[in-house]
Amino acid sequence: MDQATNLRNLMRKKQLVSKRSSSKVITVTSGKGGVGKSNVSVNLAINFRKLGKKVIIFDADFGLANIEVIFGIIPRYNLFDMIYNGMSIEDVLTPGPLGIEFISGGSGIQELVNLTRDQIAFLNDRLLDLDHLADIIIIDTGAGISDSVLEFIIASDEVILVTTPEPTSITDAYAVLKALKNRKREECKSIDINLLVNRVANDSQGQEIYNKLNKVSNKFLDIQLNNIGFLPQDNNLTKAVIQQKPVSILFPKSKVSKAFETVSNNLLTNNSYNGKKNKGIKTVFNNLMKLKKKN
Ligand SMILES: Nc1ncnc2c1ncn2[C@@H]1O[C@H](COP(=O)(O)OP(=O)(O)OP(=O)(O)O)[C@@H](O)[C@H]1O
Ligand SMILES: [Mg+2]
Repeated sequence: MDQATNLRNLMRKKQLVSKRSSSKVITVTSGKGGVGKSNVSVNLAINFRKLGKKVIIFDADFGLANIEVIFGIIPRYNLFDMIYNGMSIEDVLTPGPLGIEFISGGSGIQELVNLTRDQIAFLNDRLLDLDHLADIIIIDTGAGISDSVLEFIIASDEVILVTTPEPTSITDAYAVLKALKNRKREECKSIDINLLVNRVANDSQGQEIYNKLNKVSNKFLDIQLNNIGFLPQDNNLTKAVIQQKPVSILFPKSKVSKAFETVSNNLLTNNSYNGKKNKGIKTVFNNLMKLKKKN
């Protein structure tokens, strides 16, 4: 690269930095699998986009690649190409609908676990660029209380903890909160933890679950949960998944799409979205990589 190109790149970076503050990082997680995380990530992204936000989804369910399946898009590249094939973050971003972009966790990405220090530094460097490419970065995690999921949660500005009305799903959501508390007592206080009850029969069922879970997590863990609304059980969502199109696009007037609109509005207006200093993606990956070095 000649000096002029270097200089142009530097200027471009500086302009981008001055234009945007750090992205808001929202991690979508759950205790139990299959409760709706990936659909929540995709449909919230669509609604944030409609509200004028630039959104990137990072598929952190490494190797299971849910986001691309819901979008019905086959990505040309994934995170693996960035780490092992020297591609840039811009090159591995896959365009989705409405200008949303996503990074596929791809298959073979389990090799992230065995990264060398140099690869970690390289990945960290590249991921910094995300801060200037998006207003909101949604991280779709795998289910459960693995170390890496907990680190994603700890490093986020906000968490969306998804549960369904099933008792097993509720107790597993509580287990995530407990694991979080045991792991990082202090960091818990700086994260907004939003409970999202999915597949409810009606709002009063959702409210009841929120009240119960919030009560026990307040009492035993000293964690206050935000209520950002409920998503109804709606077969349109299943139909949309089968057609590999997000329900908010395929059936925008459906019950569940309307509920996604309400939840997105709640997330952007009811809590501290405006004014709070975001941690940005750099913190997320620094924390994650520190963890990997320890293991
Ligand atoms: N509100 C809903 N109404 C009807 N069906 C739903 C609803 N939410 C989720 N589902 C069903 O649950 C399935 C799993 O959803 P999704 O893939 O989003 O879950 P997940 O939590 O990301 O799963 P995993 O833990 O495997 O990543 C969907 O394909 C759909 O069939
Ligand atoms: Mg998923």
